[in-house]
Amino acid sequence: MQTRIPIIAANWKMYKTIDESISFVAQLQGEVGPVEDREVVIAPSFTALQAVRQLMNMPGFKLAAQNCHWEDKGAFTGEISCPMLQDAGCDYVIVGHSERRHVFGETDDETGKKVRAVFQKGLVPILCVGETLEEREAGNTFDVVSRQIAAACLGLSREESSRLVLAYEPVWAIGTGKTATPEQAQEVHLFIRDNCASLFDKDVAKGLRLLYGGSVKPDNVDALMAQEDIDGMLVGGASLEVPSFKRIIQFHTREKSTQ
Ligand code: PGA
Repeated sequence: MQTRIPIIAANWKMYKTIDESISFVAQLQGEVGPVEDREVVIAPSFTALQAVRQLMNMPGFKLAAQNCHWEDKGAFTGEISCPMLQDAGCDYVIVGHSERRHVFGETDDETGKKVRAVFQKGLVPILCVGETLEEREAGNTFDVVSRQIAAACLGLSREESSRLVLAYEPVWAIGTGKTATPEQAQEVHLFIRDNCASLFDKDVAKGLRLLYGGSVKPDNVDALMAQEDIDGMLVGGASLEVPSFKRIIQFHTREKSTQ
């Protein structure tokens, strides 16, 4: 029997100064304490990574960057490389977030290069996939998600694919207050797990941690986490305040496991 350790990740986007980041994490850790049965991942701004790292020695807490470039170094003004993120003490890197894809025009091909670069430096990508409202209404959700996954996972070794974290984030649910229903989210998560079984193999797919993201809030986290194939949350807006993020971390649900 394989247990997937849940991940509750805070994506702070372009919010919080260094001081605000430090005091948030200190307060959160004071209230939540060490965690053993789940991982709490904090993705602050690049400028706050090093400062937040100093607080990450509490068990269960991990650090993520929100983006990266695929080259190790070079003339890429304004970009941050994976060796730099490794140097800053990151554990995870969010890759292919819908704001990167849809606001900054990141392509499937670029997302794939980033995933490979993250693995090469021993970090773990949190790969985001998800369809727009138009794509959902046209009945293309599964096609979009499988295309995004195939492009991002091109050339990964079995060992790499087994460490991958995937986040299903329907674009229409991000920052809009419209959450996918637990059933809608489960349907796509199950599809993703089956898709990964054919792309990688069945055992890898069973062990993959699949997060849901898009208007996750204290009042919907329990029902989402109760779904069989949902192994965690990627939280934007509700991760910016300690009380709401704390409640999301402390989701209540039955124990889940896979056979
Ligand atoms: P949201 O953002 O929780 O504010 O919808 C989620 C995300 O963008 O990862």
